[in-house]
Amino acid sequence: MRNLVVAITGASGSVYALRLLDVLVAAGQTVHLTISPAAVEVFKRELGLTFDLNNFNPSDLLAPQGPSSCDVFLQPLKTGPVAGIASSSVSPEDEIPPGKIIYHHYRDYSAGIASGSFLTSGMVICPCSMGTLSSVATGQSQNLIHRAADVHLKERRKLVLVPRETPLSAIALGNMKVLAEAGATILPAMPGFYHDPKSISDLVDFIVARICDQLGVKHALTKRWGDDPR
Ligand SMILES: Cc1cc2nc3c(=O)[nH]c(=O)nc-3n(C[C@H](O)[C@H](O)[C@H](O)COP(=O)(O)O)c2cc1C
Repeated sequence: MRNLVVAITGASGSVYALRLLDVLVAAGQTVHLTISPAAVEVFKRELGLTFDLNNFNPSDLLAPQGPSSCDVFLQPLKTGPVAGIASSSVSPEDEIPPGKIIYHHYRDYSAGIASGSFLTSGMVICPCSMGTLSSVATGQSQNLIHRAADVHLKERRKLVLVPRETPLSAIALGNMKVLAEAGATILPAMPGFYHDPKSISDLVDFIVARICDQLGVKHALTKRWGDDPR
């Protein structure tokens, strides 16, 4: 089991975060999760999900309730040795136990992920607001999300940012360039359409699949280009 850090900030696209958490848990990862207050607003607006960061239970996100929540968009995730592959198609010994989510309040600088001595195999900020992008690019560490990202950069570990904004200002583009030069991967929430998507779920999975590829998490969310002769 590996420690992965997932931060959710207040950019549009909370459905990406929800799907990513599902996939990482199905893939047996230990996820250290932190969420900004602005993300709470976006979850409410986009998915009808409400939760309290001071009294947060990860099941609030893993088992959403209500007709306006993400289950409208997302197809059920099959579990198995590789997230997205049906368990019935693999032998029981290949099954991996599900992972877990460990929550850290965004103000909790005493969390392990605030220190480089706490070993992780990477971090993703998904979705990543322009505000958080700017804070990480300028090393501000004003909350646990910025600090954990700064730790990943200084330790030269994988840091993936999934920005969502359009159009992009010169300031945002400059911040992305700074981060890319510092070693981060900028992975915009910009799904492709060449894989013949049939639903919002397919578009969401396109981005989540690219994030998992970056983090080295096995999945079978989408077909890979070149797998099928056209
Ligand atoms: C419904 C909603 C959607 C938003 N969408 C975006 C967005 O796509 N990109 C962005 O950079 N900010 C967006 N914002 C603004 C951010 O939430 C705001 O700048 C906030 O201060 C970011 O804080 P954080 O980085 O700590 O999460 C949105 C806000 C709301 C309420």
